[in-house]
Amino acid sequence: MHTFSYHDTHLYCESTSLAKLAEDVGTPCYVYSEDTIRRNFQQLTEALSGLDHRICYAMKANSNLAILRLMHNLGGAFDLVSGGEIERVLAAGGSIEKSVFAGVGKTDSEISLALEHGIYSFHVESEPELERINRIAGERGVKAPVALRINPDVDAQTHAKITTGKSDNKFGIPYDHALDAYAYARDLPNLKIIGVQMHIGSQITKIDPFVAAVKRMRPMVQKLKEKHALEYFSIGGGIGIIYDPALESGAASWWEDEGADLLTPRRYGEALVPLLKDLGLAIFIEPGRFMTGNAGALLTRVEYVKTGKAKKFVIVDAAMNDLARPSMYDAYHQIVPVENTPEEDNGPSSITADGVGPVCESGDCFAKAREMKPVKEGDLLAILSAGAYGFVMAGRYNTRALPAEVLVSGKNFSVINNRETFAQIIANENIPEYLRSS
Ligand code: LLP
Repeated sequence: MHTFSYHDTHLYCESTSLAKLAEDVGTPCYVYSEDTIRRNFQQLTEALSGLDHRICYAMKANSNLAILRLMHNLGGAFDLVSGGEIERVLAAGGSIEKSVFAGVGKTDSEISLALEHGIYSFHVESEPELERINRIAGERGVKAPVALRINPDVDAQTHAKITTGKSDNKFGIPYDHALDAYAYARDLPNLKIIGVQMHIGSQITKIDPFVAAVKRMRPMVQKLKEKHALEYFSIGGGIGIIYDPALESGAASWWEDEGADLLTPRRYGEALVPLLKDLGLAIFIEPGRFMTGNAGALLTRVEYVKTGKAKKFVIVDAAMNDLARPSMYDAYHQIVPVENTPEEDNGPSSITADGVGPVCESGDCFAKAREMKPVKEGDLLAILSAGAYGFVMAGRYNTRALPAEVLVSGKNFSVINNRETFAQIIANENIPEYLRSS
């Protein structure tokens, strides 16, 4: 069963009608398929079954408490990057003791919070950060578990804004400094070296960059293992998903389409497990987008169809503040009608239009010159593959409320985040007394 598929002419998420859901919850609204997330988790688990491994879900991709709880129930730990994400894991009932704390700018209070809750390991990005963690651990009278993030300097062949493993990125410790950095860490009394980490980028759709990075890291990891009591090697996240043909091919979840030259979990496992097996370490993986990306869609309603001088605009009620990826990265998201009614006899079979939101910016555009079925005011559309880096990157620009989030499980759905109210939007704002009285 596909996650988002037509039953007759109606788009469903699992066995839930999206038209019905939109009627109940309103739009814009994120919809996630629980079944897809479960299957993604299981697929990856199977692919890595030859290894002693741990899935640390990169929760920055989608950190709704219900999604985190689902990951926890599936046996996942977390790759987290802020004090706020630590609090989220705690609120969701997840395990900080199995989770890793990444990021280039950890603050004193975030480091303290992580130590207080027994973080499994810090993924350290610089020598000054080592010193800081050492100091704070000393103040707390504990030893902080650390792994250094080594930058393997390979090209992830992905979008410039989401590549991280090249030497000119801000991330990680340069490969050539790794041994020195580890020696330095060993001399700091309040640190305990337990691992090594890499992450080369996101939305990687070919196996080669992963293979190149692991091959480059192998000798380094072996050398480090001789000198330090390493427990694990984290190979980061980055597994890409298919954004464009998801629905047409019938493979709303791309692992189902093994025919094409796609990076499937099976291929990922087949290529990497043999390279990692004999290292004698636990292998951690930090998938974000892979887990939730194709499990989610953003439901939106057409407000107007406007015929401009040069082109048509389909103006919807979702905007760049709800889903930033198209305006931020020129990212492609497939957009499909929720009611796929047959064409009228004398009408056009398709139109070419820009799909845009109501925000006052030309960049508020989900699709440029996109061929689509004719739509009219009031029609519902689904912007697909929006389950990762969707809601988490949403903002309130133009005083637009954060959208609702819904989790579908078969015929049932639960609102897992209510649409924000105006009162919530302004709850922390104050007009100083002197302005009120003048
Ligand atoms: N581990 C580390 C250290 C990371 O920096 C990231 C993502 C991940 C794991 C998870 O990567 P994934 O498996 O999701 O590819 N907002 C961008 C993506 C930014 C990714 C940042 N780091 C987008 O919408 O494409």
